[in-house]
Amino acid sequence: MKFETKAIHVGEEPNLKEGGSGDVVVPIHLSSTFARREVEKPTGGYEYSRSGNPTRHTLEKRLAVLENARFGLAFSSGLAAETVLCMTLLKSGDHVIAFDDLYGGTKRLFNTIFNRNFGVEFSYVDARDKENIKRGIKENTRLIWLETPTNPLMRLCDLKGISGIAGEKGILTVVDNTFMSPYFQRPLDFGIDIVVHSTTKYLNGHSDSVGGAIMLSDEDIYNKLKFNQNAIGAILSPFDSYMVLRGIKTLAIRMDRHSQNAIDIARYLESHPKVRNVYYPGLKSHPQFEMARRQMSGFGGMISFEMDGGLEEARAFLEGLRIFSLAESLG
Ligand SMILES: Cc1ncc(COP(=O)(O)O)c(C=O)c1O
Repeated sequence: MKFETKAIHVGEEPNLKEGGSGDVVVPIHLSSTFARREVEKPTGGYEYSRSGNPTRHTLEKRLAVLENARFGLAFSSGLAAETVLCMTLLKSGDHVIAFDDLYGGTKRLFNTIFNRNFGVEFSYVDARDKENIKRGIKENTRLIWLETPTNPLMRLCDLKGISGIAGEKGILTVVDNTFMSPYFQRPLDFGIDIVVHSTTKYLNGHSDSVGGAIMLSDEDIYNKLKFNQNAIGAILSPFDSYMVLRGIKTLAIRMDRHSQNAIDIARYLESHPKVRNVYYPGLKSHPQFEMARRQMSGFGGMISFEMDGGLEEARAFLEGLRIFSLAESLG
């Protein structure tokens, strides 16, 4: 099966066995708990919806397949996924190297919670040059945290190069793949250990669900994450799981169109006399255009740019937009 087919079918194979309903779409299983015949073991495989839910489980299978991972987990937000990941992989005194241009909420989580309250140390480096990662490694470095392209400056890092450096030292690598979605970039194929997503963005794709995901292939880490997700309680609801499953069915065609639209807009902005800089990895003028072509199969829908003037001009531009909603988020 190719990506588009998997995105529609995996996990939602109709149950045509005797007594099966043959649903072509997974039901939204709202039951908070699941009855059993015997005390010791669950009868139908599920116990309690925080620990496991059939609708969420269907989404998790689909998420895994899209990233070429063995396992997927769905969370109540992107930041909930990041929190469970950090709580599982890190302890006080550990050191993390992170790209210096990251989604602001991720930096807030790292700095105000994991650093201030739990004593995890963070170094932010310009990961466009992988030597900066190499130089930043210390005795207690446990994790390298990347985005590529980054939010907001659309900077890239070399997935294969960095996973190689980390692998030699036994350090785990995480990539937040929200901006590309698994349709355009699959970091695990380049040796990255773990992928996180805000499914709020492209994966759901309709601005009507907040969620997060982790995809990985290491069974031992998966078991720890699953245990901790249940212990912490950061799960995606059955309704949101259904919404994301539905959204994913059109991911491929949406991403292709986003990419086509974005290149047109990026070129228009680049030619505009009032625009100073355009940051879009699909432009030949992007300093990492060749890297983008190597590790991504498209360039996505996110663009950032600098315009002439100051805060007033920027505000006037944003408040003058007619088709784009003046609102946070993407996808
Ligand atoms: C790249 C990136 N990662 C993570 C997040 C956080 O996801 P959520 O808002 O679903 O918690 C965002 C949100 O904007 C994001 O842009």
